[in-house]
Parts: sequence; structure tokens; C-alpha cells
Amino acid sequence: MTNPSILILPGDGIGPEVMTEVRKVIGWFADKRGLAFDVSEDLVGGAAYDAHGTPLHDDTMAKALEVDAVLLGAVGGPKYDDLDFSVKPERGLLRLRKEMDLFSNLRPAQCFDALADFSSLKKDIIAGLDIMIVRELTSGVYFGEPRGIMDDNEGGRVGINTQRYTTEEIRRVARSAFELAKRRGNKVCSMEKANVMESGILWREEVQWVHDNEYPDVELSHMYADAGAMQLVRWPKQFDVIVTDNLFGDLLSDCAAMLTGSLGMLPSASLGAPMENGRPKALYEPVHGSAPDITGQGKANPIACILSFAMALRYSFDQGDEATRLETAIETVLADGHRTADLIGEEGRAPISTAEMGDAIVAALENSL
Ligand code: IPM
Ligand code: MG
Repeated sequence: MTNPSILILPGDGIGPEVMTEVRKVIGWFADKRGLAFDVSEDLVGGAAYDAHGTPLHDDTMAKALEVDAVLLGAVGGPKYDDLDFSVKPERGLLRLRKEMDLFSNLRPAQCFDALADFSSLKKDIIAGLDIMIVRELTSGVYFGEPRGIMDDNEGGRVGINTQRYTTEEIRRVARSAFELAKRRGNKVCSMEKANVMESGILWREEVQWVHDNEYPDVELSHMYADAGAMQLVRWPKQFDVIVTDNLFGDLLSDCAAMLTGSLGMLPSASLGAPMENGRPKALYEPVHGSAPDITGQGKANPIACILSFAMALRYSFDQGDEATRLETAIETVLADGHRTADLIGEEGRAPISTAEMGDAIVAALENSL
């Protein structure tokens, strides 16, 4: 039996710093829980561009398609702002998502009790919050053709992107949302703009079709995405699973993430179809970006990235109990008052560093034995 394989792509900005802490956690599970992984590392984003002139080398793409799970840090930074669009760091990430066909992006927004005071919303609105946004990740306006910037033949230019969804693209992501809902609160809310977009009308009809034909026992509602954004900040606990398209999911998930107090806390899983070994193609990454303003200062919060590894344990490696162990360790560390700079509010206590947070989590894991 060979070990399951993980490809680590730290990327840019704070990506490498937070990934160093994830490696400590991976090491702990190997030493203490007998969960050994074959870990390899490679470049993505600006780091890959600096080395190879492309944000994702073909060899790295090939490796990503072979391993059991990819763990990514973050891509992008001001240094790359003036690069041609086709080689921008973000293109590396989008290529991974597209070629691995990771159509279902799971973005949980969960409020840790210890941080309930930290949200910009009132405590009773977010205490106990646990919602899951399922974002379609391989289609829609991110990838639709035609696209580009062209002459409009009247002396000006025109920028074009196309929102495009097929029946099957909508149905498969809807199925993954209904499957998740069955294991949670049994409720799905689908969001689109069927009032102004034909692709939104199709979205609504196909999600309804999947519901009526395959998941009649799950409660389904529909909402326009703008109203959904409003409801997310008004009364987020009305939601269990939200399913939405690529662009709306990008916006709504940042909004939902911030409900919990900090982007530094939110993990994500991007899942595709099962491979031959039964595991889904999968990429795990924190929702936060590369945070160039704090890069290299030991300020970054590694929790989102460590929670992304917990999602890998659960969704790729069938280790739900170990994932819970890790999530509980993080809860403990927060309850004990450990705070990186992003989690310091008015009270102005001294923050701990990225590495100290990683060490505290490993210590809490050790205590869990
Ligand atoms: C995200 C990010 C990406 C996206 C960028 C970095 C391409 O904002 O994962 O939410 O827009 O999908
Ligand atoms: Mg985003």
C-alpha cells in the first residue's frame, strides 16, 4: 500500500508562511496518528511565473492531476499587476480548477464561539452560525466565450465576458449541494438573477428539476442573488446550504466569510468527479488571498489553511474523526485566547505570530490524545 499523496502549492504572498504551519500539522498526524502522506511541493501563481514565465507549468498541472489532493496557499500580488492577462498569477489557479474539473466549491462559514464578539454584526446574529456555500467553479462568466477586449469599430473598445451555463453543469453542482444538505440541516437555497438573466432562469429551473426528481425530501428555496446578499447580513442563520454560480459565489462567499469576523478563518474545498480510486479530484485552499500588505511579517493567520487541510482529511481521505479532532483543537486554541493580528479587536491585546499559532494548534492536538 502506498501512502495517499498531497501536492502542496504555497504560491504567493502569505501562502508560503501559512503553509509552513500546515506542514507542522501534517507532520503531527503522520507521527501521532499513523496518517502518513506522500507530500510534494511545487510552484503556482507569481512564484511560478518568476521561475518559468508561466503561472502554472505543464509539469505542475500534470502532477496536480495525479495526486490525491492539492493544497494551495494563495496567488497574486502587486508585483504582477502589470503582467499580461494571460500570465497573471490568478490564471494558474483558474487553470487548475478548470483542468481538474473542480465544479463544486465548498465554502463553509462557521462562527467559532470564542470569536462571536469579533464579527461586525451583533453577537446574537452570528453566534452558532454554520452555513455552507456551494459555488459552481468551472463555468459561468469566468470561462464563457466569447470574451476579450476588442475594438468597437467606432474608435473605442468593448470588453466582453459571457455568462453561460448548460443543463448538466447546473445539475451536477446542484446534486452536490443537495447531498451536503442531507448530511446537515436538509435545506438548500439557490441564488441567481432569474429576473434579469436567461442563464438565471435556466439555473432556477434545473435546480428545481434536480430537487423534484432526485431530492424531493430536501427543502429547496430560490432567491435573487442581490436579495441573498442582503439576507446574509440581515439574518444569516436562516440558511443551511446555499448553491450559486461562479461569480455570485465569489461575492457571496466573501460576504459570508466576513460574518465570522475574519477572512483568516475560512477554508474551502473544490471537488470534482471521483477518480479511479473513488476519491474525488480535489483542491483545498483558504478563502483569503495573498495579503501582500502583511507578507513576510509573521502576522498571517494560518487557521484558514489548516482548516482547509481538515477538509482534505474529511472529503479526500475519509478521516472525518481526525478532521473533527483538528477543528476541535483550533476551537480550543481560540477559546484559550490565542489571537493572530487579524483577530485582535478593540481590546488591543498583543497578537501572536503565524508560527506561534501553528505551534499552539499542534500543542492542542497533542493534548487531544
Ligand atoms: C476566490 C478568488 C479567485 C476567484 C481569484 C483569486 C481568481 O477570489 O477564490 O474567491 O475569483 O475565484
Ligand atoms: Mg473570491
